[in-house]
Amino acid sequence: MLIKQFRGVDFINREKEIDFFLSYFKQKPERVLWVYGPKSSGKTTLIEYIIEEILAKNSEYYIRYINFRGILVYSYDTFLDAILEEKDEEETQTELNRNYNLFNVFKLEAKTLKKIKKRKKNLFNYLLEEFQKTGKKNIFIIDEIQTLQDIYINGERELLNEFLNFCVRLTKETHLSHVVISTSNTIFQNQIYNTAKMKATSDFKLVDHLGYKDIEEWLLSKDLGFTKEDIKLIYDYLGGSVAYIKKLIDFRNMYPSLKEQLEEMAEIAKNEILFERNKNLTDKEYNIFLEIAKNIVDKGYYILDEKDELKRKEIYKVIERFCEVEILFFDPIKNITKANSRIYVKAFEKLLK
Ligand SMILES: Nc1ncnc2c1ncn2[C@@H]1O[C@H](COP(=O)(O)OP(=O)(O)OP(=O)(O)O)[C@@H](O)[C@H]1O
Ligand SMILES: [Mg+2]
Repeated sequence: MLIKQFRGVDFINREKEIDFFLSYFKQKPERVLWVYGPKSSGKTTLIEYIIEEILAKNSEYYIRYINFRGILVYSYDTFLDAILEEKDEEETQTELNRNYNLFNVFKLEAKTLKKIKKRKKNLFNYLLEEFQKTGKKNIFIIDEIQTLQDIYINGERELLNEFLNFCVRLTKETHLSHVVISTSNTIFQNQIYNTAKMKATSDFKLVDHLGYKDIEEWLLSKDLGFTKEDIKLIYDYLGGSVAYIKKLIDFRNMYPSLKEQLEEMAEIAKNEILFERNKNLTDKEYNIFLEIAKNIVDKGYYILDEKDELKRKEIYKVIERFCEVEILFFDPIKNITKANSRIYVKAFEKLLK
């Protein structure tokens, strides 16, 4: 395992995932690749590492990357604003000399932009032409697709559908570009991919939290004074979530012992669940949740295989609710529900006591 530097901070392992993506991109585009995984598992970091450190340095590829996080998209126009930008005149020349185009994915001339805005020119036909123009292996990456939930709700459902079908066109039909779509909101992912009827034209890659060996090696390398026993305890409470472990390190000196700090983190996670119960759940729903939690504590996951239709729907609703607040994580490929991160398993243990 290797710890590299990326943007001035440690980048831990991910060798296998990097190999996976690089060999995936070597193949001819045939299907859309959905990258999914629990909240904060490292999807964006991994994708951006691969783009910046590897792909952008390889002139075989032309990369377009859009991260929808923090971008307000609720209509056709705001969607266009997010992916299109008016081209400056001097840029026209240099544009295709670069092999990546980060942040403003498609740059176009003012008059074309105007036509597309007025829906006088078809957006997706235009985009297809842009992919044709590069003459390179195209890679189109869309991160945080859950941000588009608002256009889905606000009556522009067709736009999202059209966009996804455009992604199928880029891969399966024209083989013009790889398409990678990433999110931690698998409930939404599942919904849109079913609506767009993309089952046969999709691949899936789970990016999960890091493993024990990764965390051990990383923490030992940092000289923070943790013993191997300490690291076992940290992993027992926080799993391979770098985000939680960094929080632990940042506040480490405010607690008399490691155990007390970890216990408080579990207590906070428990209170998040109680808050959700008080705010949104009936007693019946909360009991369903406890049953799910018990399965996760006992064997690591829960499988919904209730025979009774009404009960099944009730259970699914509870799963959905807790996925929305990022306490549970639903894996639509394996059809299992887990905790979004290890700290919630510790919280479930407390609630079940
Ligand atoms: N391989 C890694 N090595 C070191 N730190 C990492 C690694 N992967 C992720 N992190 C850190 O973990 C945190 C969460 O990562 P990131 O935002 O990439 O997760 P994500 O899966 O995209 O989250 P979200 O579900 O919110 O989209 C970040 O602070 C990031 O720096
Ligand atoms: Mg992300």
